[in-house]
Amino acid sequence: MQEIMTRLEQVDNLNDLERLRVEVLGKKGILTQQFALLKNLEGETKKTFAKGLNTNKEDFEKMLESKRESLLKAQMNENLAKEVVDASLFTALHPKSNGHPIYQTMDRIIDFFVNMNFSIQTGPLVEDDFHNFEALNLPVFHPARDMQDTFYFKDSMLLRTHTSPVQIRTMQSQDIPIRMIAPGSVFRRDYDLTHSPMFHQVEGLVVEQKDKISFVHLKYILEDFLHYMFGDVKIRFRSSFFPFTEPSAEVDISCVFCGGSGCRICSHTGWLEVLGCGIVNQKVFDAVGYKDVSGYAFGLGVERFAMLIHRVNDLRSFFETDLRVLEQF
Ligand code: DAH
Repeated sequence: MQEIMTRLEQVDNLNDLERLRVEVLGKKGILTQQFALLKNLEGETKKTFAKGLNTNKEDFEKMLESKRESLLKAQMNENLAKEVVDASLFTALHPKSNGHPIYQTMDRIIDFFVNMNFSIQTGPLVEDDFHNFEALNLPVFHPARDMQDTFYFKDSMLLRTHTSPVQIRTMQSQDIPIRMIAPGSVFRRDYDLTHSPMFHQVEGLVVEQKDKISFVHLKYILEDFLHYMFGDVKIRFRSSFFPFTEPSAEVDISCVFCGGSGCRICSHTGWLEVLGCGIVNQKVFDAVGYKDVSGYAFGLGVERFAMLIHRVNDLRSFFETDLRVLEQF
């Protein structure tokens, strides 16, 4: 046993350690064989022999474990030392980037509206119920809340499900006239070909004095915007519903894949829905304490725009950080 313990002491790698363990405790191991001898013994002799064997086994196992731990630690330190990353290294392996396609698209959208004299507003990603829902005329139990699968924290806090809460925050902190867009990331419990749990939206809001803003202003700016983004497409406004706007519309462009003749991507309708909009609901103005004003709002998903512009049909390819894909933009 002394000899085994000395060998154990000297083991300097995990493979040898495992080999020694099998040699001692394996099916045909030294100690295992000695335990087998017990059946030939009787009485006091058997008791004493068994006691000795058990002590030896315990000693061996204890030392084996501590040896294993120290070898694992040594191995980890060795790996850490080997795998040092020099973040300051600059090599030809890092080609100059044109930016991520989502951000390229976002920048193009922002450019249009900044040129149209819109300011850029931001808000927190972790929102409260009031700004994300309540003030936007989505009270608790409002069925429209089901349209959005929300990530909740404790105490009515949540990851914002749209950029519309930035409308509310801007109106709470500024007076009219308001002419803003709110670009940013939003979160929903969704994951498939065309949905990801984190995605980007651009919200727009214009508020002026009562009767100054009508649907005509909204239609004018969105048509101009969609032609800027998609070129020579047909555009139609389709009556729809959003709690924060009344009347509301969804806006379609003629399908960029088939030119409007009908294909699988546009479900053979010839049209693709690209954004939601409307005249701001009076209840939203009430929630922020605005009186005698009028306004329009719109909201769009940046990923959807990027997919249509670049003809990408699996949204997830934008997020997989595969350079072979990203380099194509
Ligand atoms: N917040 C809506 C959504 O996430 C998008 C939207 C639709 C925003 C219409 C608006 C609007 O401001 O008027 O689905």
